Amino acid sequence: MKNIVAIVLAAGRGTRMKSEVPKVLHNILGIPMISYVTVSLKNAGVKDIMAVIGYGADAVKKVLPDVRFVIQRKLLGSGDAVLCAKKAFNKPSGDVLIICGDTPLVKAKTIKKLIEKHKSSGASATLLSAKVKDPTGYGRIIRDDSNKVAKIVEDLEASLYEEIIEEINVGTYCFKAKDLFEALSSVKPDNVKKEVYLTDAIAILCSKGKIIESVSVEDADEAIGINDRIGLAGVAHILKHRKLEELMAGGVTIEDPATTVIYPNVEIGRDSIIYPNTLIEQDVVVGRRCHIGPFARIRPDVKIDDEVEVGNFVELVRTRIGARSKVKHHTYLGDAVVGKYVNIGAGTITANYDGKHKNRTIIEDRAFIGVGSILIAPVKIGKRAVVGAGAVVPKNRNVPEGITVVGVPARILKS
Ligand code: UD1
Ligand code: MG
Repeated sequence: MKNIVAIVLAAGRGTRMKSEVPKVLHNILGIPMISYVTVSLKNAGVKDIMAVIGYGADAVKKVLPDVRFVIQRKLLGSGDAVLCAKKAFNKPSGDVLIICGDTPLVKAKTIKKLIEKHKSSGASATLLSAKVKDPTGYGRIIRDDSNKVAKIVEDLEASLYEEIIEEINVGTYCFKAKDLFEALSSVKPDNVKKEVYLTDAIAILCSKGKIIESVSVEDADEAIGINDRIGLAGVAHILKHRKLEELMAGGVTIEDPATTVIYPNVEIGRDSIIYPNTLIEQDVVVGRRCHIGPFARIRPDVKIDDEVEVGNFVELVRTRIGARSKVKHHTYLGDAVVGKYVNIGAGTITANYDGKHKNRTIIEDRAFIGVGSILIAPVKIGKRAVVGAGAVVPKNRNVPEGITVVGVPARILKS
């Protein structure tokens, strides 16, 4: 999307979160709230993204690669935040898209629609609106007799008549940059919060006879702005169900959606079955016809090939598992590379951490690891090798192909 710059408003502390952590860095299903916003912008084709940051600025910078930053030193309101970005603006003749860092459910296709409407209508401002059952906390959209947007009234300033309006401001807008900065220069902080409200720019533009357009969201959930921990949990719940529905639509059985959590970027192949109480975190790929769970925890950076079984109370992290292998009960595999047709017995543990470094365990095709084994990394178990039940295989004592080891420490069993 050429000639449009996005400004993400993210300088606020989020007082209502009651936290030391900046609001936009609170995680939702493994990634910070603000990353959902920048990912949607990128997916909508917006390349030039600027974030206005303030509280916890250094921490926010770390999670946002490919984003320009502007610092708002005093938190004087959303309008002031946008004015802070003015200096960094090298295309004042173009359009600007503004979005709040605390609205992670706004979809890329909605952003695209907003930009398209703004460009095609030639409006001075185009805002995203939503009809919600409970408008408490949001700015209400006030329309004139011809149903055109006339102004936005913030929740705290709304009269009794305005309070019952169910059409709210999502906090995502497109503006002609020149018009926006001109309007903002005359916004005064004369309101309950003593802040410079970005939303006051709408009434100013209107009074100058400029055209204000609006686009409404298809899905009212998109409007949700997170201001406290209850809102955070509510959005996590929605994102969780969006993901489970996407997977089910793609041919994955989720036996009990109520107790299953799968993070947004996980990929799972057709005809795999996810049993109850399973947690699958980010950067995990599961092949076709796999059985996962119940009670499995798959942590980041795991790749599981087709027809693998991962059973109850199994934890996996930074691990690859080859096709048709089985890891069925009470096992921990960390930093492991497991081949095809491997059987990992109940209670097998890879001791991958020596107190300083994480080390690798390699288990080659068709190896058989007996129950209750401890494999101290770095170590390699060769093809078709057997580790007897209860064995402890010391580090660097690789087990050659086809050999059986038993005992503590593991020794070669002479047949
Ligand atoms: C804002 C809108 C409201 C809208 C709602 C949608 C204003 C005045 N009101 O209200 O109309 O319905 O979002 O969720 O804009 N921020 C800064 N610097 C500041 C103040 C805020 O960067 O000085 C950022 C915050 O980090 C946040 C965003 O602006 O990401 C919105 O601020 P917030 O305090 O959450 O405003 P709301 O009360 O939610
Ligand atoms: Mg908010």
